[in-house]
Amino acid sequence: MPFDAGVVAEIQTKVDLLAYVSQYVTLKKRGREYLGLCPFHAEKTPSFSLNADKQLWHCYGCDAGGDLIKFVQRYENVDFQTALRMLAQRAGVELRESKDAGRRRSEREAIYEANAVAASYFAAELKKSHAALDYLRGRGVALETAEKFGIGFAPDSWDGFAAAARKSGVDLELAARAGLVRARPQSDGYYDFFRNRLMLPIHNLTGEVMAFGGRALGDETPKYLNTPSTAAYTKGHHVYALNVARRAAAADGAIIVVEGYIDAIALHQAGFANAVASLGTAFTLEQARELRRVAPNVYLSFDGDKAGLAATTRSIDMLVDEGLTVEVVALPAGKDPDEIVRTEGAPGFRALLDGSVPWKDFKLELAFRQAAASKFVNPSDIAREVMRVVVQERDPIVRDRYVKAISRKLDISETALRRVERGEPSAARAMGQYPPRRPFEQIRAPSAERELVQLLVVRPALVERAASRIGADEFEDTGMSDVFRHLSANRDRLAEGMNPLTLFTDDAVGADLSRLALSSPPLTIEEDEQRFDRLIERFERKRMERRLSTIDEELNGLLTRGLPVPDVLRDEYNSLTTSLRGSRPNGKEE
Ligand code: UTP
Ligand code: MN
Repeated sequence: MPFDAGVVAEIQTKVDLLAYVSQYVTLKKRGREYLGLCPFHAEKTPSFSLNADKQLWHCYGCDAGGDLIKFVQRYENVDFQTALRMLAQRAGVELRESKDAGRRRSEREAIYEANAVAASYFAAELKKSHAALDYLRGRGVALETAEKFGIGFAPDSWDGFAAAARKSGVDLELAARAGLVRARPQSDGYYDFFRNRLMLPIHNLTGEVMAFGGRALGDETPKYLNTPSTAAYTKGHHVYALNVARRAAAADGAIIVVEGYIDAIALHQAGFANAVASLGTAFTLEQARELRRVAPNVYLSFDGDKAGLAATTRSIDMLVDEGLTVEVVALPAGKDPDEIVRTEGAPGFRALLDGSVPWKDFKLELAFRQAAASKFVNPSDIAREVMRVVVQERDPIVRDRYVKAISRKLDISETALRRVERGEPSAARAMGQYPPRRPFEQIRAPSAERELVQLLVVRPALVERAASRIGADEFEDTGMSDVFRHLSANRDRLAEGMNPLTLFTDDAVGADLSRLALSSPPLTIEEDEQRFDRLIERFERKRMERRLSTIDEELNGLLTRGLPVPDVLRDEYNSLTTSLRGSRPNGKEE
């Protein structure tokens, strides 16, 4: 973790979970807890529960849960570091980072700052340019939309931005590293990289400008000039408009992916608030991951031309590999989403969305079309190809339907196809990509081990004491053993006030712990301390019992072989039996 633990603890003491969550969820007090409609899944009866004393939340419907940071991660769809940064900003806490991370970050942050200066310069220039405003109007982009996307204009000047940047105190060497200006080849000085272009900022999830795309107003080439890769932006890693689309996409559970900048903008303007653009054709693994962090379903809506089809096929593989569910939205040949909404309005695109097909159908259809188009392709090759798609279908009924369709279309017997189906070596692997969902665990009375962990999560101040008396290897439940080991290892952070749930990054473990903690009985500190002693004694008693049975075996061995029993062993045996007799499971001996 690049941030030090004190920072995490400080944020957690300064930002109250209840106050924070209340901004987004209407909560009603019920007993010791607050209840509301879960923001992470659609529901009509509240199953989202928050405990202000414990600074924990949990949804009994979708089994999500955790601490404040986890809530921000889930709600904002950001990683731990970003959530921390967002909270730090709010709490006015300065983030202290390790030196190396700090240096890398400062270059990135500096570029963000230069880009911010550039974005406001371009936005101001847009207002002054008749040509650019005419262009926007001609493309049907409303001013309101332009503002929402931070659209600007780079004037047709050699050093308009360079001069403005210098005036704003931006180091031009940095601006060059940000891809905004270029050094003059012969003399010193810099000239603008973007000239006479409509400027489209590409934002990250927290709203900083990572890069720009510049659209030529006329037929100049390239049509779009983009910021090259910098410390703040890696070409091909990001998705355009994800910051604007994120909230709606998370709520819908689906993202619409189009190819072009203006396609995404036009869709937003038409009311499709979950649209993003892949920016170019080759979809990357990093982009697939960006999407997966926001929503599990993707509508691919690439152009209907040959390049668009190729891009669709490649993107499908990438997205499916990352575990996303993909639907393909077929566009009429030669049209892009921008043209659809311009000519047919929102209903036009809505109809195309409704007519989307699962990616497997799309791939099968494509293979059939190839087969029909060429007499020279061997139908059995095509069959093998399409069966590779079919075996990835888990539902046997759907799979059966595919086999029948393929048999009909390619005039190959079903028996032969089923042989391919069984023999396909990638079948098992393809099935293995879909691990069964963890069944919703029933809330049950916790074992002593779970109860101790429950207590420690609610009262982390006791971790230190627990760790000095028992070890993680004394747990039978391996899951709880891992949790205890992790808690003990982090006792210093916990002592600083860090919420224990922050230590568990695994979603399943975090959810289990939050559920466990929220179901802990509301006891006073004194009562919990008594509970603590009782539970620890149970561990110690078990330890003594284990030791006793080992000694027992040893004694037996010695006695059957007629060997003398060492005094130490006998003394230990006696003292153990005395203690075990004296300590009843619920009693206390002082
Ligand atoms: P298109 O050529 O389909 O353009 O490129 P478009 O999106 O329809 O552009 P408009 O509507 O004429 O403005 C699709 C996307 O590929 C990237 C851009 O992201 C573009 O939106 N692209 C295209 C470039 O980066 N550079 C280019 O020169 C062309
Ligand atoms: Mn277009």
